[in-house]
Amino acid sequence: MTTYRLNEVTAVGSDAAERIAKASRRPSSLGATPTGAIALSMGEPDSGTPDRIVEAAVEALRNGRTRYTKLTGAPELQSALAVKMSAKAERVVSPDQIVITHGGSAGLAATILAVINPGDRVLIPEPTYSLYADHLAMAGAEAVWIPNKPDGSLDLRRIQAESAVARMIILCNPGNPSGRIYGVEELRSLAGIMEANPHMLLLSDEAYSDIVFDGAKFLSVLELEAIADQVILCSTFSKTYAMTGWRLGYVVAPAVLADKINLVHRSINGALNTFVQDAALEALETDPATLEKLALSYQLRRDIVVDLLSGEPGISLLTPQGAFYAWVRIDSSLSSDEMTARFAEGGVIVRSGSEYGPSGEGYIRISFATDSDSLKEGLRRFVDVVRSLV
Ligand SMILES: Cc1ncc(COP(=O)(O)O)c(C=O)c1O
Repeated sequence: MTTYRLNEVTAVGSDAAERIAKASRRPSSLGATPTGAIALSMGEPDSGTPDRIVEAAVEALRNGRTRYTKLTGAPELQSALAVKMSAKAERVVSPDQIVITHGGSAGLAATILAVINPGDRVLIPEPTYSLYADHLAMAGAEAVWIPNKPDGSLDLRRIQAESAVARMIILCNPGNPSGRIYGVEELRSLAGIMEANPHMLLLSDEAYSDIVFDGAKFLSVLELEAIADQVILCSTFSKTYAMTGWRLGYVVAPAVLADKINLVHRSINGALNTFVQDAALEALETDPATLEKLALSYQLRRDIVVDLLSGEPGISLLTPQGAFYAWVRIDSSLSSDEMTARFAEGGVIVRSGSEYGPSGEGYIRISFATDSDSLKEGLRRFVDVVRSLV
């Protein structure tokens, strides 16, 4: 048998892999939570997938739904999503505008690879989900970070100034890690900038759009009808239906772009798991009252975070309006990474703010997608550590 040995030549990755490694702010591995520590770091619901959805997958498997489906996704699921998206957009969204993807992650990646060229400038309001910059690095594009204003809103003036030479802007709304929702007025102003720059695309990652608090109005980019042909929405079954491990997401785009996104998606993934798509159809049947109850359960945990952290010297945060994250500023001379290590030593695992963009230095992301007892104990430890830091 021939043995190949890696040497300086064979061990070198592609330029794309090297670019991702250089640009990425994401931790290489989150590792296991040490015994006795409390994890306020997880980006997934604590509840587990509802039984109904699990049963639908089991039944599909028993019924022999184990073969390839269409490369664009199961037609029934595409149609069901088209109905849901039409209701969201308050206009007709047709099935050929829907691409079903391997989680939201692969939907984002396929979108970037399908519409972005090397050298393109892409605006990223931040702090934001860290995967976008990695995808842009993969495509050889340039990420232009645009820090949000202190109240969490978009810096529209800066966006306007950059827009003439930008190919795309990527929003995360509701925000991971900020827990903030962009307001109706600022999104309409952004639409005005987009209209004046028809070369630009708006990619909105709305993974948390069903987790909104205090009856806040959430405006999806699909509702911005005047720029409908510039808008791409990416979402996922992961958060709303607690299906993180099932790996199913979707992209909604103008049909001509959906075709291109699908071309990339199918070149990488081929067809998706048939029985998972059957289960997703069941997930879409979830009644709105159940989804509201779920959002309320996160809101109650949000209240615990705000109650326990507000007024603590050295800590400041804006009240989260959606998703399940609190974005906490800490007055300390330590870096976010150093603080994260100190929190781990104090028995609470959180995420370093620097992961989410240059303006995240000095911040920590807390996830409150955990049971309220663990949350309270985790926050007690968090506050103890902060008192030793400031
Ligand atoms: C904002 C955002 N978008 C996309 C994703 C990826 O979701 P998926 O698990 O469907 O790949 C996540 C996961 O944490 C997220 O927070």
